[in-house]
Amino acid sequence: MLKTKAKRNKTLDTSIEEGKKYLERCISVNTPIADIQSIVDKTILGDTFQVLPQLPAESMDLIIVDPPYNLTKNFNGSTFIKCKNIDYEAYTRRWLAALEPLLKPTGSIYVCCDWESSLIIGNVLGDFFKIRNRITWQREKGRGAKANWKNGLEDIWFATKSNDYTFNLEAVKIRKKVIAPYRVDGTPKDWTQTQNGNYRDTCPSNFWDDITIPFWSMPENTAHPTQKSEKLIAKIILASSNPNDVIFDPFLGSGTTSVVAKKLGRHYLGIEMDKQYCLWAEQRLERAQTDKSIQGYVNGLFWERNSLTEQHTQATYPSKTAEDKNMTIGNQGILNLVGK
Ligand SMILES: C[S@@+](CC[C@H](N)C(=O)[O-])C[C@H]1O[C@@H](n2cnc3c(N)ncnc32)[C@H](O)[C@@H]1O
Repeated sequence: MLKTKAKRNKTLDTSIEEGKKYLERCISVNTPIADIQSIVDKTILGDTFQVLPQLPAESMDLIIVDPPYNLTKNFNGSTFIKCKNIDYEAYTRRWLAALEPLLKPTGSIYVCCDWESSLIIGNVLGDFFKIRNRITWQREKGRGAKANWKNGLEDIWFATKSNDYTFNLEAVKIRKKVIAPYRVDGTPKDWTQTQNGNYRDTCPSNFWDDITIPFWSMPENTAHPTQKSEKLIAKIILASSNPNDVIFDPFLGSGTTSVVAKKLGRHYLGIEMDKQYCLWAEQRLERAQTDKSIQGYVNGLFWERNSLTEQHTQATYPSKTAEDKNMTIGNQGILNLVGK
């Protein structure tokens, strides 16, 4: 049955009956795969613990993991139940042990978690990979607690297999307005003057306060309960992979990792056990065929939150490359403005 929703509500909630054709695009993997290229750019419908041992060793350039956190959470009828720390640690070890052989020697892995799961994941991750950093991002959503501080953050652990890994700093700089423009001999020091204001492209830190959680009026939003934002995943993919690399997500959910990988010209592969979520992932991938836009990432640059006006009026400020322009701006209206 078709559900009615508010006009501006863009949430993708196509049912299994309505979206059969998307589900039919998913694959199952029951036998060993010799060559990763034979299954890239697909969504695998299945249990990650059964599929991972079938995938070829050292085939992934970047692995992004957003596992169920140690919270009681209903994923479309399959409930992950909060367990004792010792049991969550065993669960984490299980998927890490299965993932470790799949990462290339030059590869990177990022693991998302809330602060409580972070205490365990951060500890265990170091037994399998070299930990490089812990990113904390401000999560501006969620209910307030009655007798505690409201949770307003999440962590992402960044680790690599060796000391030889990709990190594209220039690709993840953040454009900020210059508050106190400093000059040397009359020339702007590390900032650029434009008709629309003064800007500086700054090095990103491990604290991200420019992320918006997908909500109902955003085109990327689905009815998945714990969907990550495309902007957040874009930062990871741009920093830690190169075009045509293979990006892998073993707990794919609504498909955010695959969608962003596709928009940014990478290959992707994801595993999800729920049919409904697989369907939404494939529907989003179809949309990404024509719409490469990523909210908050415009003209090859990440922007601070609430800077939409500046993003659209940057006609006089140089983009990084012509290629960036084409790749990241799906909205023709914005393209026209920036292209002038
Ligand atoms: C935290 S969510 C991932 C959300 C995702 N990052 C997104 O943007 O939509 C974790 C997902 O893992 C899936 N999942 C949990 N256990 C799984 C398993 N053993 N095999 C495959 N998928 C699993 C759940 O159904 C859920 O969709």
